Amino acid sequence: MLTTDNLYDRQKETREMFNRIAKTYDPLNRGLSFGIDSLWRKKAISHMEIAENSIILDVATGTGDLAFLALKKNAARVIGIDPAYEMIRKTNEKLTAYSKKFFAIESFGEYLPLAEDYFTHIMISYGIRNITDRPLALKEFYRVLRPGGRFAILEFSKTILPLAQTFYNIYFRYILTKIGGWVSGDRKAYEYFHDSVSRFPAKEEFIKECIDAGFGIISVKSMSFGVCTFYLFQK
Ligand SMILES: C[S@@+](CC[C@H](N)C(=O)[O-])C[C@H]1O[C@@H](n2cnc3c(N)ncnc32)[C@H](O)[C@@H]1O
Repeated sequence: MLTTDNLYDRQKETREMFNRIAKTYDPLNRGLSFGIDSLWRKKAISHMEIAENSIILDVATGTGDLAFLALKKNAARVIGIDPAYEMIRKTNEKLTAYSKKFFAIESFGEYLPLAEDYFTHIMISYGIRNITDRPLALKEFYRVLRPGGRFAILEFSKTILPLAQTFYNIYFRYILTKIGGWVSGDRKAYEYFHDSVSRFPAKEEFIKECIDAGFGIISVKSMSFGVCTFYLFQK
């Protein structure tokens, strides 16, 4: 178990890393995934049953790509939370057209300055593996979600179809780390990227963590040979 000091030190380290790479985050995402990251987000949104009365929390909102898609689906309100101010700044620049329906809060997922039973949906794309104390954050997500509300997670998986695994390992470990480090000027951040995917639990283990936090599972979908997984839970 993490002590409070340990937790905060690690949270701050992660936050500073994302502050440093915020400028190049979007172009690198598009380039390094050949645009597939956007397709995965679109697919995730299409499984979430967003309607005009949806009030959505986008955890680890980053530069707001998932929030943007939810707003395009006509959600009533989207609140983004992220500890990295420079990432939020990018989101605010991108979402000016939605300034009446979207706002972002600078906060860690482990402590949400939000009322309980409030949101119809909580969503998080490529963010759950960056959260330092996942069990603590999952309990917070459960607290602020309405009974019957949906909790959707999009995340990389470490185990994929065997044929694709070799290519995936080489691409992730060498090509992505090198290009990401070179363009962002922060090689460590892109080494962290590879490490954080390797450290993230296997699907069954992650599902158990969510169930332990109180959620019931609705569905799990693999995308692109299992490179990415979409999980949908309910409170
Ligand atoms: C890989 S980015 C994902 C951003 C965005 N959701 C997307 O789809 O591109 C991960 C984000 O997680 C945020 N993050 C890091 N630690 C966090 C924490 N403890 N709670 C919430 N977000 C955190 C980072 O600041 C960063 O913006």
